[in-house]
Amino acid sequence: MILAIESSCDDTSLAVMEIKTKKLLFHKKISQELEHSVYGGVVPELASRLHAKALPEILSRTKEFFPKLKAVAVTNAPGLSVTLQEGVMMAKALSISLNISLIGVNHLIGHIYSLFIEKDEIKPMMVLLVSGGHTKILNFNGIDDVCEIASTMDDSFGESFDKVAKMLGLGYPGGPVIEKLAEKGAETVGLPLPLKNSPEIAFSYSGIKNAVRLAIETGRYKSEDIAASFQAKAIEHLVFMSKRAVKKYRPFNFAIVGGASANLKLREEFEKLSKKFGFKLLYPEMKFTSDNAAMIARAAVEMYNKGMFTDYKKIKIIPRVEFEKCE
Ligand code: KG4
Ligand code: ZN
Repeated sequence: MILAIESSCDDTSLAVMEIKTKKLLFHKKISQELEHSVYGGVVPELASRLHAKALPEILSRTKEFFPKLKAVAVTNAPGLSVTLQEGVMMAKALSISLNISLIGVNHLIGHIYSLFIEKDEIKPMMVLLVSGGHTKILNFNGIDDVCEIASTMDDSFGESFDKVAKMLGLGYPGGPVIEKLAEKGAETVGLPLPLKNSPEIAFSYSGIKNAVRLAIETGRYKSEDIAASFQAKAIEHLVFMSKRAVKKYRPFNFAIVGGASANLKLREEFEKLSKKFGFKLLYPEMKFTSDNAAMIARAAVEMYNKGMFTDYKKIKIIPRVEFEKCE
């Protein structure tokens, strides 16, 4: 079995997975959303303190598995350095005291493996990763073979929902509240479609966000209409750029992962794209869209089988990671 730890942002989570069957034997997550909500975003030092409290609490419930553990896996990149540190310290301590291997997992690869919990992996696959920290299109061809087609030049998709929610005084995280509010609204606010006239495949959310700010300042629009217009444009931008990537690489499988893959309007729009281009569309189960240790455990099983271990003396915390660009 592998014990996995996730603490890259504002969720403390631990999971235990059986290596051979990929069965999830234990999974627990303590979310800090309420604590950060009053600030309209994650406060790193507060998050770190809450991880320090929650990690041992959850760990104490996994003791029955200790004799059967072959490895301990931990998210060591990317994320907030002060929160990654909490998980990595615990993983190192467990690796030493239980005398088991250590596996450092890239959180973004973890999100890809949220698709394959208790399942075999599917490859090759184009992946749209939409989270609070990242907006990327990747080509996935296995745990050690991932390249980047596109990334955001400024804000990420999820982050733009968080910022718009903050402007409307709706708290954090913004994604679910904006999605809910948008159901009651009409797309009456004119907003720009970013990078429409540039030939590259890339994302940018700062323009839409600023246009939303100006619209709010006029005082002319209802919050629900702002939410509906913003969400529609943010998704249209994702679809517009994904279409360019699909035309270029013609994938058979296309997956949407990350916290924002829970958005039903987004899923609806990509269903249309899937019909048009004939690719198979995949998403994680709803409970695995946001940050969790089950996806870290699943990625770690693949790494374990390939012998991708990390020396506990050398494990590093890497707040930002770059993928190699696809050809
Ligand atoms: O993957 P995740 O849990 O954490 C990161 O790794 O960043 O993603 C969290 C992000 C937040 O920005 C949140 O607002 C966004 O995902 N999100 C959504 C929805 N649910 C969560 N964005 C749009 N629509 C949603 N339904
Ligand atoms: Zn994440």
